[in-house]
Amino acid sequence: MSETIKLRRAFPSDADGIRELVNPLASDGLMLPRSLSSIYDNIRDFRVLVDGERIVGSAALHICWKDIAEIRTLAISEDIRSRGWGKALVEDCIKEVFSLNLPRVFTLSFTPEFFKHLGFSEIEKESLPQKIWKDCIHCPHFPDCKEVALIYGVGNGE
Ligand SMILES: CC(C)(COP(=O)(O)OP(=O)(O)OC[C@H]1O[C@@H](n2cnc3c(N)ncnc32)[C@H](O)[C@@H]1OP(=O)(O)O)[C@@H](O)C(=O)NCCC(=O)NCCS
Repeated sequence: MSETIKLRRAFPSDADGIRELVNPLASDGLMLPRSLSSIYDNIRDFRVLVDGERIVGSAALHICWKDIAEIRTLAISEDIRSRGWGKALVEDCIKEVFSLNLPRVFTLSFTPEFFKHLGFSEIEKESLPQKIWKDCIHCPHFPDCKEVALIYGVGNGE
């Protein structure tokens, strides 16, 4: 991992950089787009990788219910991929999950093999709490969802 890249909690001033990182990847169909407004609304969920002034990675941990959180908006800039930063962001989210006394965390991903490699298990989307689907109505892919649901932690179906 590069010495110049730092992982830290996001500041509101990072929102533009997060959007600039995420939305080109969303245009390529690799993840879902995020509006600037939704990034600000959820900025306390985010952690980022910064290289100087540039945002080169992002991941958000969103609490959904008393026993479950979601990892959202995981993105690594193409020029720093395959150096362990995606794993570092997911591990940072998982650390927070357990520090919040939540037993499990899920994600909806177009890259399920990456999460499986990190110990997540594929599950039926329908087994997730119903509340989670309220955000789906705003998704550009709704109702034709191609994301795979994966879960990590106690009650992961293993
Ligand atoms: C998927 C993504 C986050 C991976 O980030 P990364 O920094 O390149 O991955 P890492 O270097 O941390 O990889 C960690 C491990 O996962 C493996 N891995 C990485 N990408 C993988 C993939 N697509 N499928 C399976 N395994 C993968 C690596 O080989 C590595 O294995 P190791 O620890 O045994 O050496 C990154 O490619 C990305 O941002 N892609 C575009 C957006 C995206 O797909 N987001 C996911 C949410 S939909």
